[in-house]
Amino acid sequence: MRALKANLFLLPILSSALLLTPLVAVSEDTRFPNERTDLSPKDRKRVASVTRVTEDFSKAENFETMQGGAATTKAIVNGDAFSHFSANLTFAEEEEFKLGNALFRKLWVSSPSSTQASDGLGPLFNARACQSCHLKDGRGHPPEGAADATSMFLRLARPARTEEEKTLIARHEALNFPDLTYGKQLQDLAVPGLKSEGSMAISYEEVQVALAEGEVVSLRKPTYSVKDLNYGPLDPDVTLSPRIAPPMIGMGLIQAIHEADILANADPDDEDGDGISGKPSLVRDHHTRELKLGRFGFKGQNASVRDQSASAFVGDLGISNPDAPFHHGDCTSAQTDCFARASGVQERLGDTEAPDPVLELVTFYSENLAVPARREPGDTKVLKGKELFYRSGCVSCHTPKFVTRRDAENKAHAFQLIWPYSDFLLHDMGEGLADGQQVGIADGREWRTQPLWGIGLTETVNEHTFFLHDGRARNLTEAILWHGGEAEAARDAFASLNKDDRTALLAFLESL
Ligand code: HEC
Ligand code: HEC
Repeated sequence: MRALKANLFLLPILSSALLLTPLVAVSEDTRFPNERTDLSPKDRKRVASVTRVTEDFSKAENFETMQGGAATTKAIVNGDAFSHFSANLTFAEEEEFKLGNALFRKLWVSSPSSTQASDGLGPLFNARACQSCHLKDGRGHPPEGAADATSMFLRLARPARTEEEKTLIARHEALNFPDLTYGKQLQDLAVPGLKSEGSMAISYEEVQVALAEGEVVSLRKPTYSVKDLNYGPLDPDVTLSPRIAPPMIGMGLIQAIHEADILANADPDDEDGDGISGKPSLVRDHHTRELKLGRFGFKGQNASVRDQSASAFVGDLGISNPDAPFHHGDCTSAQTDCFARASGVQERLGDTEAPDPVLELVTFYSENLAVPARREPGDTKVLKGKELFYRSGCVSCHTPKFVTRRDAENKAHAFQLIWPYSDFLLHDMGEGLADGQQVGIADGREWRTQPLWGIGLTETVNEHTFFLHDGRARNLTEAILWHGGEAEAARDAFASLNKDDRTALLAFLESL
């Protein structure tokens, strides 16, 4: 009876809400509003006008300097440029950020240790701290000279083999399937006395590419393999997907972009015939199992910063947490020695190695690393480069701006005009960049458009300029020349620019 009353009461509200916000079906069991639910019709109009792609390149746009909205940091530019907190946090939130920072930098140790304060590493792992890969909150790099592969690793996965497995993927219950022995990624480190899984080997082949005016650029084409497999062979269907750690800035703002705004750019069947499709990634929230838009990771495989962080704890460090309560990390049942190791759980703290508030604090930290202000958006050369970036079709995927949702959970991220230069959709980037690995909706040639904000500070922060998912590009020019598939026309437009124009386009990227 009570339930009935409640239903009668809710019915008119629900039906009027449905009338106001028509829904789009992205797959059989998802329905996302095709209009922003957080704004009045008047505000929707305002947002549409503010986010319209500009055609005026005579001067910088309003608020263009503040690429992360009010959260942008205007701190002096130096090697710490990616390590500042969102400028609009409250004092209490700043304190939370600092606690999160300590945990992001914390070096975990193998258990049992004498202090017990940081127990739980591994037994198999890729690094001892989040910060070991996200160096200075910036990006990792491929190993140079010595076998230092810390800030990069290989994801291992095979596609569905049976009808049952195909159904799991179609229902978004699985993204792909791990190697039965090695799990989801190759851990090249292990606690004392345990064998690591093996190590990543890369060989590069130089390939010459011609640009306008007879200039030739050499690209290095990588081939990946695994050396010293310590637990027997890999499944022959398993593919290796190399990933470097991406920069950590602006994550909370990306999370606060409304679904309707991301879906507005999707065109999976290329109905407008511009050669660029753009598929939304659909993944399950680790907690609620609800279907959500995947925005994080190179294949858009995680819907939230918390999901991505929980996976990093367990997969990269071997630290269990409330959302991934596996004390032995990515150990598989074929690795019996691994399971024989002590876990780092301490009952007085909780039932995982990183119980809340640890995961909560690290998530909060990861959501609040500020995007740095643009340096000189009004410089003549930068403006010329901006025009070329827009006219070459780069903005078909690297969407300049969004206004985040008004009802964002964290007020610092709410209703901000932001400039990430990404549509957060998946694109076929051609055979050159393909890793052959399916991740949910993303096939072996598809990648999520990488945001470009902050890219001009890579060298300042990380002292290198290795770009793309595996750091194969040694500078911005190479990164652009690797674009293929849906991005081929934009790549060709860049390659056919004269040297001055190319330099201007690069100056624009350097100013981000
Ligand atoms: C061994 C190296 C490594 C460690 C350690 C590591 N990460 Fe990452 N991180 C990566 C890589 C590689 C990616 C890209 C993941 C992908 O696409 O599969 C990533 C992606 C992310 C992203 C999403 C970035 C984006 O642009 O979508 C977040 C957030 C993140 N990591 C947080 C963390 C946190 C929090 C920790 C510590 C608990 C951590 N990471 C530890 C390598 C690492
Ligand atoms: C079809 C969509 C698409 C178009 C068009 C496109 N890009 Fe990209 N861009 C991507 C994707 C996807 C990635 C990530 C690829 C990877 O990591 O392997 C990327 C990566 C990049 C990167 C490296 C980012 C990083 O952090 O490593 C740069 C620089 C870049 N694009 C610049 C450009 C420029 C300049 C243009 C126009 C000439 C352009 N892109 C056109 C989709 C596109």
